[in-house]
Order: sequence, then structure tokens, then C-alpha cells
Amino acid sequence: MENIIVLDFGGQYSQLIARRIRELRVYSEVLPYNTCIEEIRAKNPSGIIFSGSPGSITSKNNDIKEPDSFKREFAEKNAPEVLPEILQLGVPVLGICYGMQLMAHLLGGKVTGTGSNEFGKTEIGLVTDSLLFEGLEQTEICWMSHRDSVIKVPDGFKVIASTPALPVAGIENKSSRIYGIQFHPEVIHTPSGMDILKNFLFNICGCTPSWTMVSIIESKIAEIKNSVKDANVICALSGGVDSAVSALLVHKAVGKNLTCIFVDHGLLRFGESEQVENTFRKNFKINFIHIKAKERFLSKLKGVEDPEEKRKIIGNEFIRVFEEQAGKIKNVEYLVQGTLYSDVIESGTGVAAKIKSHHNVGGLPEDMNIKLIEPLRQLFKDEVRKLGIELGLSEEIVRRQPFPGPGLAIRIIGEVTEQRLEILKMADKIVLEEIKRADLYDKIWQSFAVLPAIKSVGVMGDERTYAYPVVIRAVNSQDAMTADWVRLPYEVMERLSSRIINEVGGVNRVVYDISSKPPSTIEWE
Ligand code: XMP
Repeated sequence: MENIIVLDFGGQYSQLIARRIRELRVYSEVLPYNTCIEEIRAKNPSGIIFSGSPGSITSKNNDIKEPDSFKREFAEKNAPEVLPEILQLGVPVLGICYGMQLMAHLLGGKVTGTGSNEFGKTEIGLVTDSLLFEGLEQTEICWMSHRDSVIKVPDGFKVIASTPALPVAGIENKSSRIYGIQFHPEVIHTPSGMDILKNFLFNICGCTPSWTMVSIIESKIAEIKNSVKDANVICALSGGVDSAVSALLVHKAVGKNLTCIFVDHGLLRFGESEQVENTFRKNFKINFIHIKAKERFLSKLKGVEDPEEKRKIIGNEFIRVFEEQAGKIKNVEYLVQGTLYSDVIESGTGVAAKIKSHHNVGGLPEDMNIKLIEPLRQLFKDEVRKLGIELGLSEEIVRRQPFPGPGLAIRIIGEVTEQRLEILKMADKIVLEEIKRADLYDKIWQSFAVLPAIKSVGVMGDERTYAYPVVIRAVNSQDAMTADWVRLPYEVMERLSSRIINEVGGVNRVVYDISSKPPSTIEWE
């Protein structure tokens, strides 16, 4: 399989570069910049891209060879480097932003902080007989974001792009197939960016656009068949898109040898549990075990108010129930997990402060003596959705907004009781109905209801009421790391308020959460 390696120097767009390449139907993976050259060579890449970086070549410390680990660490952090041999593998290389500067630096050019910073949309002049710019206009708009500049190109290179403030905005060495551009072709603010990446892939690296959903399905099925042979496989289904698509792929490969276990903790949304059962047992005829464990979970949660405690109880109980069921199936050798490529990339980064203990179906179970199958390990979320459609999964499941593993329990502040669960389920059902009716569901990252642990006074039909408020939360986000609250139309808010208060018993007030993340989080607990 053709592969374009994106070497990640810490730039904010490294993942985006890989996604763009995949959109052009060539497989691409992101590797840390310090991946050893043997590993890169072993992957037999068709091309390599050096990403941008928050670092600066000009902070390079000349004393780096001294045995002073602090200085080395400083230089390393501020000017991440690769061995120049990467540029001699005979593989085409494209350096983007910092990537171009590093390339120029490694090959004997000169980079400096010229003081003429360029940020944002910039008009650029291109040498259009360069293979990289084939089909583009001589003047294009591009997105710049840099402080340093290449002021002397390495021997053997020619300048192929410039702006009034930046004489060297693009370089090429045609015979070595090494190219650099100071701007970002991967962002939408560079309108011809995809054409530039396309030129790199197809004109320079000689790739063919063969990474399609059908090819992914075929190769995954063959891979799974080959490793699983006739062993038994289990999968924990959550109803979310990742575990659903994983299960379908594995089912295509091993058929009856797959058993899906759906631990229904009773904390799902209205109608969700029936939908999962219908999809898997009825539509796809997959071996399906539906464990209805609501009472078990609610009794464990009785009297518990602390959010972390709730999360831990649900996570542990989930594993216990799952293991009990898995233990009843003979000769299980494999467990399917819906790990995504973003999880793989993220697990390679530093340790962040723990804000919440996440419970994921994918995080099951650490100490089981079982091998893992992770069929989505190479895929981004949007690719998983496309794959789901290709495999025949309903739009409703494929387009589903993210939903946390501990379910509604972390949207009920304080103790989870049967009665409070019912209130939230009904309120949440109305939120989803109205958001869908307003045609907003696909445009919003997450929209849901929260039930706080307070009551307030109201008046209904001349009677005093003392009941719960319901909080509506709707946020937009790219990756759940940051989020902003959605400016819902007033008419939608009005309908939500009137329907929830009229239709859900025990509620006399509706409020809207206008907090972004950070400093708040998306979920309330
Ligand atoms: P927060 O609340 O941390 O949520 O801003 C970020 C995203 O993660 C989801 N979330 C979870 N997902 N297990 C999950 O699978 C969990 O325990 C969990 N907690 C939060 C949340 O819905 C949002 O999309």
C-alpha cells in the first residue's frame, strides 16, 4: 500500500495534513519527528512531508554536541531536527513552513528571523512550471504563519514561490524531488492547497488514488481473516459508531465466530437500547447478547453523589458484567476494540492533568488474557463514518453525536435515581427531537440535557411548584479538547423550554448553558 509519512514536528496542522492526503485517496500516517530512520525506511514511503512546528531553527544551539543534556534538551525542544539522511533516501520530500526551513538548514541554506513576520492570507507569486504548482495561477492566495525565513537556498535548489515580504516562499530541487513551501497548503484558507498536495502526490511521488473505502474494507477483512482464522471473537457494543463499525468489519471477516456483547447499563438515551438490538440482531444477524443490567448499575450507584466515584463504579461494573458474559463463551481468543487513529496519535503525547476518568467501551478489559483486534486503528473519525455507511449501517447510528461511556449518569448531578433518570431521559428526548427538527443535529458537535441537583419555585395553573430545572447544553467542537456553546436560534430555545416544562413531570424551569471549554467542560461531571 502506498504511504505518505507526515513527520510531526509539533505543528498544529500535522494531523490535518494526513487527513487531506487521505481525502486525495492516498494512505498517510503521522509519525513523531524523532522516529528512527530504519523505521521510516521499513515503511517504504512513497513520500515524506515535514510538518510545521512551534519551534524555530534560529534557536538552534551551536553547543548541542556538548554532553550537556539540558542544552541538548533545550535545542531539541525549540528546534526539533531530523537526520539529514532522511533527505537522501531517494524518497520525495515536501517541507511545509518549519519543515521547509529545517530542510533548507540541513542542506546548507540559511534561515533567520528577518523581523518581517507574515500571518494570515497572503498573495503569492508562483513559478508555475514547477511540478508542485502545475495547473495553478501565477498569483494565488495562501495562508502564512511564520516568523523565520529562508534567506539563502541550499545549493542545487531554486526558488519557486515568493511574496513581496518573503523572497523565498517555496523551493525545489527537481532532480532530488525535494520541495519546500513556507505556507500551509492543508488549511482551507489556501484555496489551491489541495491542488498543491495533489501535485506532490501524483506528479512528484507517483502515487495512485487507491485508498478508498472499498479497498479499506477488503484489506481489513483479509487481515482479520488471516490473523483470527477460526478462533472466537467478542466485541463490546456501546451503540456508538466506533464499536458498531468495528463489529461489522469483524463480522464480515469471521461471521458466526463473532459474538457482540451489549452491556445495557440503563443509562442510555431514550430508545437507544432497542435501536442497537434491532440493528445488530435483526438487521445484521450477528450473535448478540443483550445484558439488561439497569438494576445492577442503579443499586451500585445508590446514594453516590461524587462524579469521580460514579464514573469509577460504572466503569468497574461494566467490566465485571462484560467479563461474566465473555467467560460463558468458549475458546475466546480475540477482543474487538474501536480504537481510532486519533487515540493512537494522542497516546504518544505527554501526560495531561487528569480532569475526568474516562470510561470507554474501548478501554476493556486490561487483565483479560485475550488478544486485541483494532480494525479502526488507522482511521480518523470521519473515515469511520464513511466506512459505516459503506458497510450498511444506518445514517442514524453513523451520524450520532458523541455520547459518554457512563451515559446519563454524568448528566444527572448528584444521586442517580430511577425517577431522576426518567426525567432526564424524557428531557433529552425532546432536546434531540427539536434539534433534529431545526435541522441542526449534524451541525452541532453535541446537544443534550443535564439535570442539576437543585429545585426552584414556579407556578403552574395557579399552583406553586417546587421542581427541578433542566439545563440545555449544545456545543461545537473539532476534537472535544475545546468547545464553544452554540448560538441556538431563539425559536428553538423557546420550543425546548415550552415542551420540556409541559411534557416532563417534575421540571418547572429550563436554562441554557453558555460556557465554553475551557474553562468549563462539555459534560457537567
Ligand atoms: P468533557 O466533559 O471532558 O468531554 O469536556 C469531552 C468529550 O468526551 C466525552 N466524554 C466521554 N466519553 N467516556 C467516553 O467515551 C467518558 O467517560 C466520557 N466523559 C466525557 C464527552 O461527551 C465529550 O464529547
